[in-house]
This record gives sequence, structure tokens and C-alpha cells, in this order.
Amino acid sequence: MKILGINHSNDAAAALVVDGRVIAASQEERFTRIKHDASFPDKAIDFCLKLGGLALADLDAVGFFWNPGIHAEAPPRRLTSSVRHHLEYLLSVPARLVPRLHERVRSMEQTVHLASGRKLAIHYVTHHLCHAAAAFFTSPFAEAAILTADGYGERQSTTIYRGQGTELELLAEIEFPHSIGSLYAALTEYLGFRANSGEGKVMGLASYGHPSDYVGKLFKLIEFTERGFELDLSYFEYFHERPHRYSSKLVELLGPPRAPESAIDRRHEDIAFALQAVTEEAMLHLAAMAHTLTGASNLCVAGGVGLNCVANGRLQYESEFEQFFFYPAAGDTGTSVGAALVVEHLLHGGPRSMEVASEYLGLGFSSAQVREVLDRGQLRYHRLENPELLAARMVADGLIVAWFQGRAEFGPRALGNRSILADPRRHDMKDVLNAKVKFREVFRPYAPSVAEESCGTYFGSPVPSPYMLRAYPTLPDYVDKLPAITHVDGTARVQTVNEQQNPRYYRLIKEFGRLTGIDCVLNTSFNIRGEPIINTVDEAIKCLMTTGLDALFVEDFLVVKDPAKVAPYLPPTAP
Ligand SMILES: [Fe+2]
Repeated sequence: MKILGINHSNDAAAALVVDGRVIAASQEERFTRIKHDASFPDKAIDFCLKLGGLALADLDAVGFFWNPGIHAEAPPRRLTSSVRHHLEYLLSVPARLVPRLHERVRSMEQTVHLASGRKLAIHYVTHHLCHAAAAFFTSPFAEAAILTADGYGERQSTTIYRGQGTELELLAEIEFPHSIGSLYAALTEYLGFRANSGEGKVMGLASYGHPSDYVGKLFKLIEFTERGFELDLSYFEYFHERPHRYSSKLVELLGPPRAPESAIDRRHEDIAFALQAVTEEAMLHLAAMAHTLTGASNLCVAGGVGLNCVANGRLQYESEFEQFFFYPAAGDTGTSVGAALVVEHLLHGGPRSMEVASEYLGLGFSSAQVREVLDRGQLRYHRLENPELLAARMVADGLIVAWFQGRAEFGPRALGNRSILADPRRHDMKDVLNAKVKFREVFRPYAPSVAEESCGTYFGSPVPSPYMLRAYPTLPDYVDKLPAITHVDGTARVQTVNEQQNPRYYRLIKEFGRLTGIDCVLNTSFNIRGEPIINTVDEAIKCLMTTGLDALFVEDFLVVKDPAKVAPYLPPTAP
């Protein structure tokens, strides 16, 4: 079957599943260059179809990330009245019928009849089922507990599923407005960052904070129960159409909110610390529930809260599960994949391949295409046999190297195909990167890519973390040796790399290790602050030319900006 999956919300995205395998997926922002673009993912759909050699009419089905039938009784939030009226009219039939079914509705279906006689089925799949399906069906596990947590779905904010083969069984759910994701978004806004965007910054800021009265104050807002948790909703407004996600009562409790872009002080750090403590505790509590309900030894995690790598690290260290799969596109982006996989496995009974889906599902370029762009731009470049060896040397010498290879990553992290690489051993590297290329807030950490077999040598766990979604402590002997990737609290957001996952990137890291004795480079996404990750060769060149990047490698080509800088690295016979 050929199934297109669509996420049309924050981080809109499309995915193409053919016979159970995810063959393409991308966020719309990568094409429109609007960060977190939430418009209908036309361009991402075009990309997926083109990659699959398909037209829309060739598809067997479409999976949509949201099931409007489920919240027919309570119309969606944040819609203008005319749209809402239209939607209510559209949904009046399911609104009447669904409550009389006395059964859970997993999806709604529409059939489009084409003039050719073909039918195209559009399935509106329940949001958290999409999250759960994406995490479980792309995991290596035949059996697992699945925990999803985000801001909100149609009604659910949190679910626990049991996954077995091609089946998913809902075991527990928590309904919005009781929501960890919405709590985090509200505090993100309170702390002066954009909700549904700045949560990662708040997590970075939390590491600067300390235990304080704010921990007790924030723990008062949540009550952990046998069925999950309940929030004290009087502190929040995110379920109303109000200017702020938090209420005046929260301001009374914590003091004045921070104005965006204003100075950050100790109080903000301590509130972020407290928020992080509550979030981690909630995830541990939910994981304990998932373990009790399933008895499984494997845990899959998805939903926006699943991007919280500090909480994920604690799940790995402290929960009773033995193995973990943190889905790389845990946010709503990944529901495009999940919607398509629900259609494939749950609705059509398609078998699972059990091969872990690649994280490199986005746009890629052939060597010929790269050369054409370079020639068109009249750029100087060198074609290399082993660009990874030269890139490793440059990084070891302190240069900032952009590394553009293969297909783009699906999900928020750059995992070695659209990355900027630097030397993690240099104390000044974070500041240099910020000043020359990334222009990020000073409190945000940079992350390491480490050869998988060396992870336990430098960091507090040898367990592979292929998607940069777990924070491990840097071991005491290496805190001083790896200052650019060790955060202020002594942890690092580790990505492990092995030969199979990304051969060329692995060789680069190993060559860096041969040169320096450390199998680990600093890896940050190839973009500048506020922009989506670079998608095309043209964008990569523009970034090289307009920032302080020292070198750009695109596939086999080294693109030259400053000949004097690259000359020492090139053999005299190079063309
Ligand atoms: Fe979600």
C-alpha cells in the first residue's frame, strides 16, 4: 500500500509509507523556511510524492494526524467563529453518532472518488494514536509499553498504550486540560519564550537553576494520582482564548513574568529548574504506571514532552524498563508518520518489517546536482575521495565546519547530515560558535556526537542514544576535557553514532579520535538562530558566505570561501 501521512499543526509535515516502510518524511518548514511552519504541508507532500515517484491519485490512502469526530461535542480551540460554524456543520453527523457507538473511535474515514474510477481513502486518525504508532512501529521492539505526552490532542494529553506486533491497545489516558505539555508551554511563555518553540531553551536554562522555594510552589500545581495526574487549573488559562497561557494566580505565586528578550536572572533560572523537576517527576510517574499496566521491559516515548532529553535520561536511569526507544520526531512532526502507519497496520493489517526506520528521510542531492549548483554559483571547490578525513582534521585544528551529507534528518535534531561540527575540547568553542555562526542565547548548551563504543568512556552510560534525546552526565575525568559540550550542570545531550547508522559521519568521528584521542565532536544543527535547519545546497552556500563558518563540505565537495584557510589541507596535486 502507498500511504501519505499528514501533520497539519505546529511543525507541519508529510510522510510517505510504502508497504509498511517509511520512505520519505519532512517538515514543511524545511521548504518554506518559516520555523515551525504550521500551514498545510503542500511542499512536504510534493517532496514525498516526488521521492516515491507517485502522483496524489496513485495513493491508496491518506492518514491525517487529527480525528475531528472525537471532539465534536467541544469544538476545537482557537478557531474563528465562521470556521468553527463550518466545522460544526461538517461534524454534525459524527457528533450525533459517535456518542451512541459506546466504543472508542480510532479514526474517521472519508472517501474521495476520482474520475478515473479509483478511490482515495482519507483517514482522520486520533492524535495520540498517531504519536504512539510512530514510536512503536518504527522501534526495534515486537512488544513494548508506549507513553505519549504532549500539549493536547483532540481530548487526550497523555496516553499509555501496549504495543504488540501490529496492534496497539489503549490502557490509560489523561484528558486535556490536564497536560504536562501545556503546563510546560505555559511556563515557557511565563519565562519570556515562545510557547511550542522555546521549550528546549527553558530546559537549557533549568540547568543553571538551583533547588529553591519554587520547586515546592510548582509541585503544588500538580497532584499525582493512580490514574496519572491532575493540575490545579486555576493557575492556567491555556484552555481559554486569553492573551496568556497562565493566570494572574500564577503571577501571584511566582512573581512577575519575564518580558521576552529581557535580562535573565537567578529567579528565572530557579523557576525553570522547578518546572523541569515537576516534568521529570511526572514522566517518571507515568512510566511507572506504564510498567505496572503492561509488565513490559521496553518503553517507547513520543509526543512533544518526549523531546525533553533530561527527563528521558532520568527515565533510562530510574524507571523499571530495560530498553528505551525515544522517537526522534517525538513532536507533532512525527504524527505524519504515525497517521500513515496506523492506516497501514491497524486499519489494513499490513505486516511490520521490524527494521528500525531511518532518521534520514528528508531531501537529498546527488553529486551531479551538487556540482551543478556549485558551477552555477561560480564557486571554487575541490572534489575529495574521503571528505570526512579532511573535515576531521579541520575540526581538530579548531575550524568550524559545516557538514552537509545525504538526506536531511526528520525531526528537530541534526544528526550528522545537516550539522555544524566543531572541537569539543576547546573552552572557548561555545562562545566562538555563538559569535561567528549560531548567534544563540548564551545559556543554551551544545551537544556531542560520540562514537557509540566510546560513549561509556566519556559519559555516564554506554547505552546508545542515536537521536540526541537523552542527557548523560559527562564523567568527572572528561568534564575538563570536553568543556564545549558539557552543560553547566555537568551533563551532555549525547548522540551516539555507529557505522551502520551513518558510515561517513562515523568515520569522521573516528578520524577525529585518531588525531586527538577523543572519539567525539561537537554537533549543532546547520542553521542560524531562528531559522529552520538548512535543507538545500543553495542554502548551505549562502550560510557559508554570510556567517563565520570556516568550511563547507557538501557530499564529496569542499566548497572554498577563503582559499588561504583551506590551502594547508589540500594535497598539492588537487584539482
Ligand atoms: Fe501532539
